[in-house]
Amino acid sequence: MKTVVITGGTDGMGAALASHYLRESERVVVVGRSRVKFEALLAALAADDPATTDRASFIAADLSLTAESRRVVEQIKARHERVDVLVLAASFIRQKRHETVEGHEASWVLFFVSKYILTTSLTSLLADSDHPTVVNISVPGARVEAIDFDDLESVRCFSFIRSNAQQRRANELLGILATVENPTLAYLTWGPRRLVKTSFAGDVGWVM
Ligand SMILES: NC(=O)c1ccc[n+]([C@@H]2O[C@H](COP(=O)([O-])OP(=O)(O)OC[C@H]3O[C@@H](n4cnc5c(N)ncnc54)[C@H](OP(=O)(O)O)[C@@H]3O)[C@@H](O)[C@H]2O)c1
Repeated sequence: MKTVVITGGTDGMGAALASHYLRESERVVVVGRSRVKFEALLAALAADDPATTDRASFIAADLSLTAESRRVVEQIKARHERVDVLVLAASFIRQKRHETVEGHEASWVLFFVSKYILTTSLTSLLADSDHPTVVNISVPGARVEAIDFDDLESVRCFSFIRSNAQQRRANELLGILATVENPTLAYLTWGPRRLVKTSFAGDVGWVM
């Protein structure tokens, strides 16, 4: 049985993947903020097969806070000896700069720093898998120069497009780092070719 960790697994594509893996008889750890959504997901699955839900667990966490990502890592390490698949799908879109109680820009932390903490801190658990895989749902193909290394948290200027391009490029670089640390790791940055109608958490703007 594989152990699959899915951030943003309570809704949208993350929830679809959680349902898929549970139906495939794998063990799934869902990370998100809403236990109510997690329980609704389990209730829908239990209607078809009550046994499915025994393999699911939930870690409530706000991944726009670095301390919360570190706590998630500790909880996973305490409960699991191995991680086979790590899916990074948490999303909350902001059109305006938002500073968290930690004093960091929320989108940069949620869409990149949290993924960095989870991917690098779970290296040893991923290394124990026969086929370790990280699926980072972050549309590939951002410009090479998209990161402003002097303004990672967009203090000087914030826009969704700029912040989005910056985190996408950083997530590609994270793949290089992660696969150097663990050459057996399959690391994918992936995004849908067209918009997928999900919960679109956050302030998605009028176009979406
Ligand atoms: N939908 C699209 O067309 C599209 C296009 C390109 C890329 N993507 C990418 O695909 C991935 C999945 O997107 P989606 O549209 O399927 O997502 P979604 O339906 O908007 O769901 C977002 C998920 O993230 C969780 N989340 C939000 N804020 C969080 C926080 N602070 N801490 C922890 N979890 C948080 C939500 O759970 P809670 O409510 O429980 O917190 C929910 O499970 C994202 O990485 C997104 O950027 C999507």
